[in-house]
Amino acid sequence: MSTSQKERAALAALELVRDGMTIGLGTGSTAAFFIEGLGRKIREEGLEIEAIPTSQASDALARKAGIELIIPDETTVIDLDVDGADEVSAEGHLIKGGGAALLREKIIARAAKQFVVIADESKSVTELGAFPLPIEIEQFGFALTVRALRDMLAGEGHEGVELSLRHNEEGSFVLSDGGNFIVDAKLGRIREPVALESALNMIPGVVDCGLFIGMADQVIIGTADGIDTRRY
Ligand code: A5P
Repeated sequence: MSTSQKERAALAALELVRDGMTIGLGTGSTAAFFIEGLGRKIREEGLEIEAIPTSQASDALARKAGIELIIPDETTVIDLDVDGADEVSAEGHLIKGGGAALLREKIIARAAKQFVVIADESKSVTELGAFPLPIEIEQFGFALTVRALRDMLAGEGHEGVELSLRHNEEGSFVLSDGGNFIVDAKLGRIREPVALESALNMIPGVVDCGLFIGMADQVIIGTADGIDTRRY
């Protein structure tokens, strides 16, 4: 079996796992390789590991892999969080939320002592924005929130930006695990991600956006024949 770039990055992140750790489990196809690998490692090495999934999908995968899951309380120390990304810039800033799990992912990434991003080479970019930015919004008054987003973005130099409420193949609105809608914003180029994140999160109705700025401690990119590790 040939190892994919995503799997290679996930296997490298498994090397950071130590006995006794509490680990955040990301969401998506790359994080899935990590979750499956973690289950194997726990079995083979007899490790005591507790984990916190960032989505119902990762919860199900982790249970299948035999990983013990916990609900964090105020005393919980998350030693390591491993998650994928939709885009990774040279500075280690991220766009996440392609799988609609951005809010739970950001809560766990922020709380973790070490946040490690795993991705294939296609996610590595010089500047964020080609991937439409996911924005999680409250259902109540969603059209007003979309209008406020459009107005704010126009004021920030993103006139005429395409904003679409995410739908599934059956035509229903995609809901996050918390029951919110997802708006995808085709920005093309994000010149000032720090300012944009705060401006977006100031709008009432916006729950959070998929910009993860300065959060990654380490990015592991799987390449054709190895890995490229970046530390921040
Ligand atoms: C989930 O909401 C996302 O943030 C994922 O981590 C991201 O979409 C990466 O997914 P893949 O690993 O499937 O590319």
